[in-house]
Amino acid sequence: MSEQVAGGEHSALSTQHSALNVRRVVVGPAAEFPAGTRRMIVPFRGRAGIGVFNVNGTYYALRNLCPHKAGPLCTGRVSGRIVADAPPTAANTNLDIVRDGEIIRCPWHLWEFDILTGRCLVDANMRVKTYPASIEAGDVVVYADPADLPEQPVPDARKGVLA
Ligand code: FES
Repeated sequence: MSEQVAGGEHSALSTQHSALNVRRVVVGPAAEFPAGTRRMIVPFRGRAGIGVFNVNGTYYALRNLCPHKAGPLCTGRVSGRIVADAPPTAANTNLDIVRDGEIIRCPWHLWEFDILTGRCLVDANMRVKTYPASIEAGDVVVYADPADLPEQPVPDARKGVLA
């Protein structure tokens, strides 16, 4: 789930999440987190960590733990899906890439996941855990399960920038 929160609405969201067992993590200034990039809330002492993605101006947060065999999913390659009307042949290699920037491929066995929903594209019964992400006072903020986060304090996510 992802949310973009504008203006004064963020305080209501903060209050709502503070009542739940989640931790508010400031990832960094939205101005330094452009579309098509990601930040990692780094794995630490057995905690999975979280990948935060800017997909066309909306922020999404995924647990950095692949539901297949526990690979570091959020360090994988971000791309789109290749689609075709028919299997490619030597005469016809018309392949299209759709949803570019919305799909992440786990680096271990290359299973694909939808960044927007966490849903696995290989097995419809699998999905990776997602967290609400929003912009609050110019910062990208994630409300995450403490079990997936390092102990306090959270390391500066800006040090974990991936291309
Ligand atoms: S561990 Fe991610 S695809 Fe296997």
